[in-house]
This record gives sequence, structure tokens and C-alpha cells, in this order.
Amino acid sequence: MPDGGSPDRAVASRAVKQFLDAIQSGASGDDIAALPLPESYRAAVVLKDEAGMFEGIPSEEKDPRKSLHVQDVAVPELAPDEAYVAVMASAINFNTVWTSIFEPLPTFGFLSRLGKESRWGARHDLPYHVVGSDASGVIVEVGSAVRNWKPGDRVVIHCNYVDDQDPSAHDDSMLAANQRIWGFESNFGGLADLTLVKANQIMPKPAHLTWEEAACNALCNSTSYRMLVGHNAARMKQGDVVLVWGATGGLGGYAVQYVLNGGGIPIGVVSSQDKVELLHELGCEAAVDRRAGNYRFWSDEHTQDESEWRRFGKDVRALVGEDPDIVFEHPGRQTMGASVFVAKRGGTVVTCAATSGYMIEYDNRHLWMKLKTIKSSHFANYKEAWEANRLISLGKVQPILSALHPLEEVGEAADAVHHNAHEGKIGVLCLAPEEGLGVDDPELREKVGEEKITRFRRHAQKLGAK
Ligand SMILES: NC(=O)c1ccc[n+]([C@@H]2O[C@H](COP(=O)([O-])OP(=O)(O)OC[C@H]3O[C@@H](n4cnc5c(N)ncnc54)[C@H](OP(=O)(O)O)[C@@H]3O)[C@@H](O)[C@H]2O)c1
Repeated sequence: MPDGGSPDRAVASRAVKQFLDAIQSGASGDDIAALPLPESYRAAVVLKDEAGMFEGIPSEEKDPRKSLHVQDVAVPELAPDEAYVAVMASAINFNTVWTSIFEPLPTFGFLSRLGKESRWGARHDLPYHVVGSDASGVIVEVGSAVRNWKPGDRVVIHCNYVDDQDPSAHDDSMLAANQRIWGFESNFGGLADLTLVKANQIMPKPAHLTWEEAACNALCNSTSYRMLVGHNAARMKQGDVVLVWGATGGLGGYAVQYVLNGGGIPIGVVSSQDKVELLHELGCEAAVDRRAGNYRFWSDEHTQDESEWRRFGKDVRALVGEDPDIVFEHPGRQTMGASVFVAKRGGTVVTCAATSGYMIEYDNRHLWMKLKTIKSSHFANYKEAWEANRLISLGKVQPILSALHPLEEVGEAADAVHHNAHEGKIGVLCLAPEEGLGVDDPELREKVGEEKITRFRRHAQKLGAK
């Protein structure tokens, strides 16, 4: 494998750059297909022999800038049901933070398991892991079994990686026995100049968005869609009161939009007055600043304080006059006790994560006596991801890109997410040489409104200027 210091690097970069030149000059799909494939490409990786580098260090001190490297890696062979996509932009997701701090486990175990599955799976089991679970870009080659996509197509990628020959994948593919998240549980992810994806991960790029605006949505937007809108999780209805933790974060920034679009009443929980202001700009009137409220749900590491759940519940109820029908959960250990407590009698806590710890405690009496439900959710099946992408394409849900880094700064970008120093999504420019490129439908962009599309970016820039 060529590495970052190898003389092959310049050759690889030149070969990949041909794709960029072709894309920027409006070359046809046939012209793009005729370009030679490089032998290697630039990618953000973690290394297997560094998986123990943070042992004994507290989580918050584990530094993605030390573990994420940008280097050249070999282009893997293409399977018949796959496509190579020249990646124009990508985004940071929390799963890249987990991979980069090797928590809760190094992701090399996932790659080794995939490696045992088949000849094609074996390609993934490598001493490096190309990370990243979001991307926008242009298809440059498709395998012989790909029917609906061709070179030149401008696309975004969703991260549900399923084996369509597995019967368990054919009701809800998120129930598939070997369902994986691309770029987390598989190799060759999106934080790179080139990626390898299954044809059933591909969706059309929203034409009115730039590459980086289009790249930041699929993972979090689809997850929030399934949690609230699709028929597999909380199934929000008009009038529902929905408490959204982290309401200006990656998941929450889409969740708030879905609640508003669906005729619900969002209550956003955030950790600063600036974020409260952003929520109000989004149209979410009810907001809780958890830092100002100084809620101490845990009195010590092992004991929760019900009086603090009650104080929080009272504050929430005071905002809209009733308790939440749905609690949109992902912080996990720190908040789950409070979430179960504050949900309305008969209400639902929908959870997809546990940022602050996955060993959860709640008082079961509050669950069963008040007939509440805890509903789990995980990413989205292709249909749900497609519907969520359609809403972005129609301009009914907006991207929440707040900041942008070049691929070389992927460590800084992941570190900001690790330390909750961001709002919405942090984008990463891969082949795109600058921001603002890739808009194919300026009329739709104008109709949707620059103000709505760039709300998170402008808010972050305003904060930076303060
Ligand atoms: N299962 C899935 O398919 C799936 C998909 C996407 C993400 N996830 C997981 O979901 C979690 C959130 O992802 P994200 O992209 O939304 O991350 P994010 O962009 O970091 O946003 C999460 C927000 O949660 C809030 N938060 C963090 N720790 C908290 C705590 N201890 N108590 C209360 N609020 C807290 C923060 O907002 P404030 O500080 O403003 O309150 C933060 O901005 C991650 O663990 C991620 O791995 C799972």
C-alpha cells in the first residue's frame, strides 16, 4: 500500500484529479467512464497498529487529530453490484468520532468479520480503515450488475450497507442479519477522494445544493426521518409534542424540522443561548437551555436524582402546557432516566444512540405504570433514506451545514464534533476545490431561499465573528 510519504502519491493525486477536471468541465458520462482508474487515492484512515494508542486515557482526552491520517490507499476491486464514486464532499458523523477514539471498540473487528463473509467481503479486512459515512459526488464506474446508475450521475450516498441476497434483509433491511453501516462497519468510506459503494446506497443529489450541502444530510437526516416520520419507530402525528435532545446537533437539527413540517410542537433542548437563538430562527419556539437550567440528573456516578427529573419536567411542561408525546433520545446514560420520566402517559421515548454511555438506567415504575414505550431505531432502510432525501431535494427539509474543512483537516473536524464545539453538521471538502460548487438548479435554490439553506452556516459564522 502506498502511504502518505510515497512518491506514488503525486501520481495518484493526478489520476484522481482527472475526474475533478472532467466533472468541472461538464464532461459526458461516457467521457468520465473512459478515464483510467487510478491505482490509489487519498483517504482519511485509522490504522490497526495504532488501535491501542489511547489506552488508559479518558474519553474526552482522546484526540482524533492523532489517530486520523490522510494518506494514499490502494483502489479496491469493484464488485458487480457496486460503483466507484468520485467524492466531491463528505461530512463528519459521530461514528467517525467513535472510530477515531477506538471506542467502544476498534472498528477493525467489524472489518475482519466482514472479511470472512465472502470473496468481496475479504477486500475490507485491511490494516487501515477508510472512514466516513456520508458523501456527495459523481459516479465514475459501475459494476456489471448495476442497472439504475451510470458514470456521470451526480449522487449522494446513504450508509445502509446490506446484502440483498440475504432473506432477512427483505422486510425492513435494517433488520438484516448482516446489516452494516458503510465507512464504520465496512471499509472504503466517504472521507476520501474516491469511494466504493453498493448500487443500493446511491440516491440522486439534490440539484439545488452545493456539493458540501448535499453531502452532510444522508446519515442524520435519514435517521431522524425513521425515528419520527417513517412507520418503523415513533410515528409522530400532527399536534404531538416532541422533546428533542441536542436540538441543533446533527440528528436534532433535522428532527426539529420534521416536527415542524409534520404539524407537531417541538421542544428543543440545547446547551447555550446562541443555540436557543438558532432554534428560534428555525421556528422552534419552545427551547430549554440545559446549561442554564443546570439539571443534575445524576447526584453521583451511580445515583440518579428524581427531584431533578421533576424540575426538568416542570420546566418542559411550563413551555407548552403539556408533557411530551415523544422524546427524541440519543445522549443515553446522562438523560435516559429523565426522558422516561418526562414522556407523557402513553408516550414514546425513541432512541438511536447513547453518546454519554450505553449502560442505561431508568425507573421502570414510571414506564409501566404510565404505559410508556421505549422504541429503538437505527439508521434507515433504503426506502426511508430515499424519502428523506426526496424531502431535501424538494427543499422541504434544509441541510444543516455549519462549518467546512478540507480533507487534510479531518482530524480537527472530528475533534470539534467529539467535544461538542459545533452546531448541525461539519462538512469536509474532498475533491471539490472550494465551497459553493455543484449547484445544478439555481432556480429551485432561489425558490427555497438562500436564507433557509444556509441558516446554520451563517449562524456559525456570526458566532465566529463575535
Ligand atoms: N443509530 C443511528 O443510526 C445513529 C445515527 C446518527 C447518530 N447516531 C448517534 O447519535 C448520537 C448523536 O449524533 P449527532 O450526529 O446528533 O451528534 P452531535 O452533532 O454531536 O449532536 C448531539 C447533541 O446532543 C447533545 N448532547 C451531547 N451530550 C449530551 C448530554 N450528555 N446530555 C444532553 N445532551 C447532550 C449536544 O447538544 P447540546 O450541547 O446543545 O445540548 C449535541 O450537540 C451519537 O452518539 C451518534 O453516534 C446514531
